Amino acid sequence: MKTTFGPQKILFPLPTGLIVTGEMEKANIVTIAWVSLLTSAPPTLGISVGTKGFSGKEILKNKNFTVNIASADIMKEADFCGITSGNDIDKFEKTGLTKMESKNIPSPIIKECPLNFECKLVNSTVFGTTNHFAGEIVELHMDSDKLKDLKDPRSLDIEAFDPLIYIGGAREYRRVGEKIGDAYQIGKMLK
Ligand SMILES: Cc1cc2nc3c(=O)[nH]c(=O)nc-3n(C[C@H](O)[C@H](O)[C@H](O)COP(=O)(O)O)c2cc1C
Repeated sequence: MKTTFGPQKILFPLPTGLIVTGEMEKANIVTIAWVSLLTSAPPTLGISVGTKGFSGKEILKNKNFTVNIASADIMKEADFCGITSGNDIDKFEKTGLTKMESKNIPSPIIKECPLNFECKLVNSTVFGTTNHFAGEIVELHMDSDKLKDLKDPRSLDIEAFDPLIYIGGAREYRRVGEKIGDAYQIGKMLK
């Protein structure tokens, strides 16, 4: 048996993305869990940002942003950036999170996040109450001490990273569980 609820927006698990837009001095952080890869060539990230907040308008103006994936140790700071507005406060100052220069765009990355994407805005559409921004990834940063092989971005040690997972619906933060299989492999058992 299943119970139906009509149209609802419940999805999990989601990454806790901290989106930064604006030049070094003016940069703002907004917490966005609706983050997804959109295409691989060119590598592009999609983010859904509410039309009412400060960040949507800023991204439209600046045409660039960084996506910083939070780890569990900055849970309070990440949550704070999702319940306050850049209209009212300086979130870098309030959280103590550290700005680092990006290589290719004016918006900085966040030092405390182990994974950072520099994105140039390539498309935007308003759908419902949300801006859908497509950002071409022009640079990727990873903390060196979270990599098993410094030459391979896929060698990221997920336990060392300890990503902050958001459970939409229940509105909870969680950690990743144990590895249970190899993707693109385990299904071959049924071939
Ligand atoms: C865990 C979490 C996830 C969130 N995910 C989103 C999201 O995907 N899209 C969105 O528009 N707002 C999301 N929010 C809400 C915004 O972060 C919030 O409206 C914020 O105050 C807007 O800040 P700004 O005015 O500085 O842009 C989320 C908040 C939290 C706490």
